[in-house]
Amino acid sequence: MIFPERFSNLPAYAFPRLRALLDHLEPGGPVVHMTIGEPKHAFPDWVTDEIVAHSATFNRYPPNEGAPELLAAIAEWIERRYEVRVDAETQVMALNGTREGLYNAAMALCPETKNGAQPLILTPNPFYQVYAVAAQAVGAEALFVPATEESGHLPDFSKLSEAQLERVAIAYICSPANPQGAVADRAYWKHLIGLAEKYDFKIFADECYSEIYRNAAPTGALQVATEMGADPDRALIFHSLSKRSNLAGLRSGFVAGGAESIRRIKQLRSYSGAPLPLPLQMASIKVWQDEAHVIENRRLYSEKFDLADKIFADIEGYQSPDAGFFLWLPVDDGEEAAIKLWTETGVRVLPGAYLSRDVDGLNPGKGYIRAALVAPKSEVAEALTKLRSCIYGQA
Ligand SMILES: Cc1ncc(COP(=O)(O)O)c(C=O)c1O
Repeated sequence: MIFPERFSNLPAYAFPRLRALLDHLEPGGPVVHMTIGEPKHAFPDWVTDEIVAHSATFNRYPPNEGAPELLAAIAEWIERRYEVRVDAETQVMALNGTREGLYNAAMALCPETKNGAQPLILTPNPFYQVYAVAAQAVGAEALFVPATEESGHLPDFSKLSEAQLERVAIAYICSPANPQGAVADRAYWKHLIGLAEKYDFKIFADECYSEIYRNAAPTGALQVATEMGADPDRALIFHSLSKRSNLAGLRSGFVAGGAESIRRIKQLRSYSGAPLPLPLQMASIKVWQDEAHVIENRRLYSEKFDLADKIFADIEGYQSPDAGFFLWLPVDDGEEAAIKLWTETGVRVLPGAYLSRDVDGLNPGKGYIRAALVAPKSEVAEALTKLRSCIYGQA
């Protein structure tokens, strides 16, 4: 039997790796999962009513690119949030969450060659794993750009050589960043967009944590690209209702950006896409229009971040996240720390190296664990207190 080689060297996904690491060991206490970034706060109760109200449309094939009313609601949200006006019909497309969009956009938009060579796709390291698979799928080389404490936990693109930059076709960037919670500010975006303009590459900005912030609302890629008067096809933004509205299972998101890029993504999707069912598209309209539940969601996360700041205040290298819902905690060795924590307390966290790759023998995630603050506050408080004393000793 013949099978492709293309994906055969993919490392096991983080969660099977974690199961292999921990599942044969007894937990040292009541199990608390801080591993998966799956929101646990309530979503608005009217979402179900909206789906039911539109359930008669389950018999229809949904429009591939999103119903016009949904695209209009998203364009209005973008304008409210980023003060950028996009044309709903040509510059926005509905997605089944950001993940498939981040993958399929590379399919649609990565050129076969760049300046006569194999294209490079930049991804932060550590990173959300779909970026590297997308690079592999389109025959590009993934270049893992370290996002470490020294670079403010965002990738430092200024270290790339001229020869590398000439080959870049796409730069993935996650802001707010999973796992570190770092946020790209205006100056960071300007630098990256400037590079993209100079070396003619596209930016795929994964902004799915954009609404889970603590102080100021994170600046967005499209916002800065527009302010700079950059080529409209320079930056694409990817958003979803998964984190913003605790609707990870709704699979509802969007990509927005230059009309030519969106046209090409739509074209590919008209052959191979799986559009969001119409009742879910209709329910999503109201979710994008409502901010009250988003404000409450932020408040709940903020309380937990404040708690974490108190618990880890004196830990060297502790970085209080600006956004997102993870703690990225420095340890000697992430796997050892995850085993110790599991066997001594029952608290389950992800070793940082499962989210990053070895480059030249160095893995920027190795000295970290990631803990998701998705559980209710009391559970998080208890788990973080145990984590604190197990990994770092008593305060
Ligand atoms: C950085 C990042 N990007 C994208 C996604 C995908 O989210 P969704 O497809 O639900 O929008 C996730 C989910 O955890 C994520 O952490």
